[in-house]
Amino acid sequence: MNRTTEPTANLLVYEPLSASAPLGHKWAGLYCGPHFCQSYHRFWQYLRLMGLGSTLGGHPDAYIEAFSSLQTLWQDQTSGKRRILIAGAADYSMLAHLWQVFQLYPGSLEISVLDRCQTPLKLNQWYAERRGISIRLLESDILLLEEEEYDLIVTSSFLGNFDPDARFELFNRISRLLRKDGQFISSNRLRPQPENQRLPIEEERIEQFVGLVEKRGRTLAETSALPLSELRQAAMDYIMDRRPFPVNGLASIENIAGASELTLTRAFYLQNRQSATGLSIPTLNDGSQYVFFHLTRA
Ligand SMILES: C[S@@+](CC[C@H](N)C(=O)[O-])C[C@H]1O[C@@H](n2cnc3c(N)ncnc32)[C@H](O)[C@@H]1O
Repeated sequence: MNRTTEPTANLLVYEPLSASAPLGHKWAGLYCGPHFCQSYHRFWQYLRLMGLGSTLGGHPDAYIEAFSSLQTLWQDQTSGKRRILIAGAADYSMLAHLWQVFQLYPGSLEISVLDRCQTPLKLNQWYAERRGISIRLLESDILLLEEEEYDLIVTSSFLGNFDPDARFELFNRISRLLRKDGQFISSNRLRPQPENQRLPIEEERIEQFVGLVEKRGRTLAETSALPLSELRQAAMDYIMDRRPFPVNGLASIENIAGASELTLTRAFYLQNRQSATGLSIPTLNDGSQYVFFHLTRA
């Protein structure tokens, strides 16, 4: 059941981060107001460019694999377009990985991207236009989304945004959004801390992280470099705001799923690769364990 994720060098998914990171930074300044997500959305792609941020939990290959099995399954089942909802997208990475698998069957999908903040939606729109992908953007809190009949809802590292009570609401909502036999695929880092308290920030980590960003920041290409002073502030704001609600284990997910007519059809643990930093910080490559899970609407 345990798998170790290796760097996915062979996964040539098109993600022009150098071109989009400055755009994400600019748009965050314009659109991130109401949800206090500016520290995250303006800096996430820079962290990825610096090799610190791990997209899709650091195991994009596991998502590619899941999408490939679905594509094969759906191909054998002749039915109309498949409706897919990407929920909570820090940037366009999930769309890029989905398209990696489905680009040969463009007519078979109806893709919607949801986020409560416009910044990641702008990044997805920018990417989709660049790739000629037709997508629908939904700026909404997922807990308020009234739509239905999705075949697949996919996200990663999303549960940390919800405390345990809100997670029941989230899984209930996801269950209602899925058609019968629809799939919810996601992964989340596991932590031992109490699930009903936001993760505390360890003081000594702050300076370690900011120092590392300054060092890595110097390697950024001229075109997408951020002035050092801004880099330092962005790093500080980023780490101070990264306080997710922990997920202790698969049992927590199974428990919530059971209360929402969602059945666990597959799950495995993943160990994302230890980055040279050795720093344990939310959203970074730090050797943490993840659980990857498939839930099906009963
Ligand atoms: C952790 S990120 C997702 C990470 C992403 N899956 C990745 O690796 O690329 C969370 C995203 O979910 C969005 N979000 C958080 N709570 C939300 C909610 N209740 N409804 C909709 N979007 C939400 C945030 O704005 C952010 O863009």
